[in-house]
Amino acid sequence: MRHLMSPMDFTVQELEDLFDVANDIERNMDKYSHKCDGKILATCFYEPSTRTRLSFETAMLRLGGKTLGFADASNSSASKGESVADTIRVISCFADICAMRHPKEGAPMVAASKSLIPVINAGDGGHQHPTQTLTDLLTIRSLHGSLNNFTIGLCGDLKFGRTVHSLINALTRYEGINFIFISPQELRVPDYITEMLNSKNIPYREVIKLEDVIADLDFLYMTRVQKERFFNEEDYIRLKDFYILDKKKLDMAKSTMQVLHPLPRVNEISVEVDDDPRAAYFKQVQYGLYVRMALILTLLNMTDAHINDGLLRKF
Ligand code: CP
Repeated sequence: MRHLMSPMDFTVQELEDLFDVANDIERNMDKYSHKCDGKILATCFYEPSTRTRLSFETAMLRLGGKTLGFADASNSSASKGESVADTIRVISCFADICAMRHPKEGAPMVAASKSLIPVINAGDGGHQHPTQTLTDLLTIRSLHGSLNNFTIGLCGDLKFGRTVHSLINALTRYEGINFIFISPQELRVPDYITEMLNSKNIPYREVIKLEDVIADLDFLYMTRVQKERFFNEEDYIRLKDFYILDKKKLDMAKSTMQVLHPLPRVNEISVEVDDDPRAAYFKQVQYGLYVRMALILTLLNMTDAHINDGLLRKF
């Protein structure tokens, strides 16, 4: 049985296969509408979410399955002190697969170690958000044609943003990626990330002003300043509007640059940018649905490749 704790749990080839399934779902959604008949997805969200939880639930419903779970841990027995380990043992009696988000780093790993069903990390504290990374990789691959040879600027809260950490890590497995980290000094990408890039001889630059580099970018990955991870409200207020991508800044970018954002946004992208053809962040949400459908099928061993392989082995 396989879980997904980090995007690195899948080889580059396995990711290619997953993205091929996701792109096929995009083109032929109806073909997949009964693949998970009779299957149940549990969503256990100990932290707020709109996109991740609803796209997991939509993914299972579009595959013909059903969903159950909680979106607010205060309504679950976690509020009475039940551990994640006991919760997943219980969920294993009810569901076939579980997506879990938790504020504590490593909590979904604890769940996976005790689970009888596949567990998907839907975000653990400031650590990893692997299905957002799969979404980001699929979006880049679909828009750029491959996951090689481009310059990506990651802008905003590079310290607390788990989507940024997961994405940088995942992109180090591809060729010809130039990273530009754009952040205020206080929200710099953590040292363990720059040390990892140095150890692999992967080029990166760190800058403070978006205007200095926007013309060089193929992708601009904007991020929200993560209010919930600040210790001090004053620092958050000082930094929250450090970057605002508006039409004037976008005019300095290439006509082919694509703007990504894991969402939710607060002020960091002006709504006037939404109508620009380079604004790809709502397309990105759609890719999140396709990749989560492909992931559920993969972890339940229900892709055509799995089924064909099973039939071949049977005969
Ligand atoms: N991108 C993302 O994780 O959004 P939610 O917090 O709404 O799930």
